Amino acid sequence: MSGKMLAVASGKGGVGKTWLAISLAQALAQEGEQVLLVDGDFGLANTDVQLGLNPTLDLADVLAGRCDLAAAALPHAGGFAVLPGRSGSGALAALDSAGLARLQSVLAAARAAWPLVVLDLGAGLDPATRSLAASADTLLVVATDEPTSLTDAYAVLKLHRRDAPAADARLVVNQAADQASGLRTWATLSRACESFLGGGVPLAGVVRRDPKVPESIRRQTPLLTRHPGCTAAQDVVALARGLAQTPLAIGPGRFHHPT
Ligand SMILES: Nc1ncnc2c1ncn2[C@@H]1O[C@H](COP(=O)(O)OP(=O)(O)OP(=O)(O)O)[C@@H](O)[C@H]1O
Ligand SMILES: [Mg+2]
Repeated sequence: MSGKMLAVASGKGGVGKTWLAISLAQALAQEGEQVLLVDGDFGLANTDVQLGLNPTLDLADVLAGRCDLAAAALPHAGGFAVLPGRSGSGALAALDSAGLARLQSVLAAARAAWPLVVLDLGAGLDPATRSLAASADTLLVVATDEPTSLTDAYAVLKLHRRDAPAADARLVVNQAADQASGLRTWATLSRACESFLGGGVPLAGVVRRDPKVPESIRRQTPLLTRHPGCTAAQDVVALARGLAQTPLAIGPGRFHHPT
C-alpha cells in the first residue's frame, strides 16, 4: 500500500513554493487528510524556518542512516507532520545516483506510512529535482505573472512531460492581483503548452497576493493558523478542496490508500 505524493515545483525561485506547500499541507489536514510535509529543497531548505521549528533531526539524518523517518518527522500544531530539510547540506543536484536512490526509498517509506506526502522542491531543473518531480502522483507547478516565472514554469512542464508522460501536472498561479488576472496568466501559459507541447495545462487554482503572507512568514506562523480568513488563506483552502475532489491521479474524493 502506498500513499499519494503531491510535489510543488516552479523552475524560478522565490515564487512561493515553500509557503504554498506548508499552507496546502495545513489546508489538506483540515480537510481530514493525514499529511507529511517533506522539505525536498536540499540547497536552501527552509520549511523549518517558515514554521518556526528548531529541528534536531532532519532528512539529512534519515538519508545518512542516523535515525529513522518516524524519529525525524515532527508533529506540527497545524495538524500535519513535517520532515525538515537541512539548509546547506549540499545541493540536491550534488546527490550521486546512490544518494538519489536512498532519497527515493525514504520517500517510498514516507508514502507507506502517510496517506499523503506533500513535497516542497527547490527551484531549478537539476536532475535530482526532476527525478523527485517525476515520482509524484501530482505535480503542482507554481508561477506568478512575471514573464521569467512563466518561461520557467513552461520549461518545468516540458521536461516533466518528457520525464513522466502520463503524470498529472497542474498550474498554480500565485501572487495574482485578483482571480481574473490569475486566470489570464494561466490561459497564456496553457496556450503555449497547447501550441508546443501538444496539450494545455490544467489549472489547480489561483492564489491572490496578500500582505498577510509575508507578515505570517516573518512571524514564523502558518498563514492558516494566523489569518485563517484572509484572501490567500481562502484561495489555498479552495485549492486544497479542488485537489481532494479531483477525479484525476489523486483519486476520487480522498487521498486514501488504494486498496
Ligand atoms: N500569495 C502571496 N502573497 C504575497 N506574498 C507571497 C505570496 N506567496 C509568496 N509570497 C512571498 O514570496 C516569498 C517567497 O516565498 P517562498 O520562500 O515560499 O518561495 P519559494 O518558491 O519556496 O522560494 P525558493 O525558490 O527560494 O525555495 C515569501 O517570503 C512571501 O513573502
Ligand atoms: Mg522554497
